[in-house]
Amino acid sequence: MKINNILKQLKETVMLRQMQYIQDQKGIARRYQGEKQNWDLHFKSSKEFILESAKTKNKGKLVVLGSGWLFDLPMNELSNQFKEIVLIDINHPKQVLHQIKKSPNVTTIKADITNGLIDYFYKKAKQKSSIDLNDFSSFAFPVPEADFVISLNIMCQLHIILIDYLKKFNKYSNTDLNKIEEQIQQSHLNILPKGKSCLISDYEEEIYDENDNLIGVNPLIKVDLPSENFKRTWQWKFDSNMTYREDSKTFFNTMGLDF
Ligand SMILES: C[S@@+](CC[C@H](N)C(=O)[O-])C[C@H]1O[C@@H](n2cnc3c(N)ncnc32)[C@H](O)[C@@H]1O
Repeated sequence: MKINNILKQLKETVMLRQMQYIQDQKGIARRYQGEKQNWDLHFKSSKEFILESAKTKNKGKLVVLGSGWLFDLPMNELSNQFKEIVLIDINHPKQVLHQIKKSPNVTTIKADITNGLIDYFYKKAKQKSSIDLNDFSSFAFPVPEADFVISLNIMCQLHIILIDYLKKFNKYSNTDLNKIEEQIQQSHLNILPKGKSCLISDYEEEIYDENDNLIGVNPLIKVDLPSENFKRTWQWKFDSNMTYREDSKTFFNTMGLDF
């Protein structure tokens, strides 16, 4: 590998670590171990919905956005059905790279699904210069031409790390941060091709006290969703051990949307 490429990769790794991407991904796998039964139910619902959605698609190329650990993806079934599968994530865990070695029709792309926002926010925040809040359309990720595109529980995740990172710089108001969240979600929806997409996403967060009394509900989707061909919803008991929020449990209402 050329020295320039090595340096580029090193810089990117430092950026992803400083912005917590790698730690966050490892955190998902750790949290799964502590909530296995509840998470398995969510993964089952996600996989079933994806297979339902796949039924109506041509079986050429499948692109998965936010593939991560592949927990919520029915890999075996899909790799038997589709000619080609492309997994896209900012970081592919080495266990996943090892797992897919035995499937010659599965490849990976390491890319920022916001098409450069991570780098842009990182640089702007470090330079303490302003972010243009009005138009994120240039950050539209060029999804490879495909017969089926799955957005795999990433739509409501894309802004979280970016906004947590920006908050440290104490420069943006809540209105600014909400606008950023909306823009990121809208840009993500815009890149999903109509008639070929399946969106798996949390849409609400429910907070319960230790006696299971509901104490709050937060909407997680801040933009209009496309009208669907079909839809299913289920509850994901994300944290019943009260480790994500102190003294309260966090459950997500999650949906599958075929459009
Ligand atoms: C909540 S996980 C989705 C669940 C995932 N399917 C799994 O089984 O791990 C979110 C995934 O999105 C990835 N991700 C977050 N922001 C990203 C971005 N801007 N570009 C690409 N991938 C991103 C993370 O690395 C992580 O693997």
